[in-house]
Amino acid sequence: TNFAAFSTTAGELFGGPLALEGMMAFMLEATFLGIFVFGRERVSDRLYMISSVFVGLGTWLSAIWILIANSWMQTPRGYEMVTENGQPVVMLVDPIAAYANPRFPWMFVHMQNAAVLSVALFMTGVAAYYVWTNRDTEFWRKTMKIGLAVLLVTAPLQAIHGDAYGRHVSETQPQKFAAMEAQYETDSGVGLKLLAVPTEIEDITDPHAEDLFVIEVPFVASLLASGGDPGATITGLNDMESEAPPVAIVFWAFRAMVGLGFWFILLAFWGGYRWLRGELFEDDLLAKALVGSSVLGILTVELGWIVTEVGRQPWVIQGIMKTSDGVSPGLTGTEAFITLAGFVGVYTGLLVLYWYVVIRLIREEAPTAPAAPRTDTGGSREVVPSDD
Ligand code: HEM
Repeated sequence: TNFAAFSTTAGELFGGPLALEGMMAFMLEATFLGIFVFGRERVSDRLYMISSVFVGLGTWLSAIWILIANSWMQTPRGYEMVTENGQPVVMLVDPIAAYANPRFPWMFVHMQNAAVLSVALFMTGVAAYYVWTNRDTEFWRKTMKIGLAVLLVTAPLQAIHGDAYGRHVSETQPQKFAAMEAQYETDSGVGLKLLAVPTEIEDITDPHAEDLFVIEVPFVASLLASGGDPGATITGLNDMESEAPPVAIVFWAFRAMVGLGFWFILLAFWGGYRWLRGELFEDDLLAKALVGSSVLGILTVELGWIVTEVGRQPWVIQGIMKTSDGVSPGLTGTEAFITLAGFVGVYTGLLVLYWYVVIRLIREEAPTAPAAPRTDTGGSREVVPSDD
């Protein structure tokens, strides 16, 4: 709402994907979401199942279009810059090159796998809670196994894909990669910093701070950036023409995402090992770890987006338009604050409502007592009442 200049510049590019998102994805999602949330007892099992598939399909289609728009801002292609009424405007000359820009496939795979991983972790955590508190039924045991099976595939895949994704970022947005590694000087044989803390308090907000306490693993950053060469050169932020993004935020968000990614792999293998030995439901520590980690996947998605979006600063469209140039002309600090507060308020309200509905669905729709006999009511299901 506060980026009118950006909308004028990028409108031609954004109009298509956003309209398609609205028509294809939102309609599909919204229609079937109603049945999915409110229709459990009103429609047949088959229609209920179809609705859930279409809700999923709608969100995936929605992700395609929104990620096309975002990935184009990271690696813009297929456009020409023209000037209209004194304002720089993007003219779409090759929509296919623009939509299939180099970042899109990377973003789509990483984001969608992250989404499946996060939901699997949430499901496994909820199921583990019921198993751990001895209110388990066949339903929760099966849920836990399905969640864990999905985690066993998606958690390692996320790290393997993320590693290759990092190389793509180092090629296409070197200043973001250097910020992820807090690399100021151009150097070869660069170590991976596990920790880097400014030694002077005033340096905390200084993106070019050099007095750092660092713990690093030698050669690993070069190795990862090049895909195998421990002596590879990484260009430092001090040698780049563009201003640096806020390094500390990008550096720490990246480390937290990767650290949590490895924690998810550990959880998946731990669960897989117990499952293999037939002890999946007996390990209390595993159940506690799964319950404690249930919302961490969703948090990690946010951390990933912080890396992606803060890392590309000062650009709103990489190399074309700076964020400061995209702001609505004449916008005051107070207006920016009020709109931000408005968004935070509305989304906090939606989040509370969302959790209320999710918790209600978990408590009321799913069996929490030893499986009661199901009554066949001609296709629709009789809900087993909750015992809490
Ligand atoms: C385990 C190792 C991981 C590595 C090496 C890794 C690597 C990356 C890289 C290089 C980026 C791109 C930043 C950019 O475009 O600017 C990124 C972004 C992102 N990551 Fe990760 N990641 C890992 C784990 C995870 C996990 C576990 C999640 C969530 C469950 C996650 C979610 C995201 C999201 C949502 C984004 C932003 C969207 C996107 O660019 O695709 N990542 N990650």
